[in-house]
Amino acid sequence: MSWIRTALCLSTVCFAGSVCLPLQAGDSIQFNRDIRPILSDSCFQCHGPDEAKRQGGLRLDQAEAALRGGESGPAIVPGDPLASEIRKRILSTDPDLKMPPAASGKTISPEQLATLDQWIREGAEYQGHWAFLPIRRPDVPDQTGGLSPIDAFLRQRQQQAGLMPAPEASRETLTLYGRDGI
Ligand code: HEC
Repeated sequence: MSWIRTALCLSTVCFAGSVCLPLQAGDSIQFNRDIRPILSDSCFQCHGPDEAKRQGGLRLDQAEAALRGGESGPAIVPGDPLASEIRKRILSTDPDLKMPPAASGKTISPEQLATLDQWIREGAEYQGHWAFLPIRRPDVPDQTGGLSPIDAFLRQRQQQAGLMPAPEASRETLTLYGRDGI
């Protein structure tokens, strides 16, 4: 069965050190972690900070502007995904209305739409760009086994996603990769 676990890990955990486990039911949405990457990738090109490229009078990177909306009114109605224009546009079957436009080569996956829906349902709260937020020391999750704080955070997220860590590598492998100071 280990190939199943391997496939699962490959599809849910990105390499290059960044963990992108799927959201779990019960996890609340954070704008910077969950929403900004979606909007930034698929919408900001035409609804972002660059005024010269802005389309439909709509800006989606700032709360006030998104709530005000564009030429056809509020783009986001906090608490009510079904009333939100961005959802109607993403799901539209009319190629003239569909967002993002097909010609942009961008798409919104059903998972991304579900994440946007949950964010709107929870009140569509924006966060400032993380680089400008004050640094805060999070509480290290309580984990057994004398884990380092970083491993404790990783283990907690794996558990939330129902994943198990891979078994510890053999001593030879660890030595080969420089543990034990070699
Ligand atoms: C390549 C450019 C482009 C991208 C990318 C794009 N849009 Fe648009 N969008 C437009 C254009 C052009 C209009 C104005 C024409 C129209 O209303 O269809 C528009 C209009 C809209 C409107 C209606 C604004 C109003 O009040 O009239 C909404 C809502 C919208 N887009 C949402 C989105 C969302 C959400 C995304 C990302 C998932 C997105 N768009 C990505 C070009 C784009």
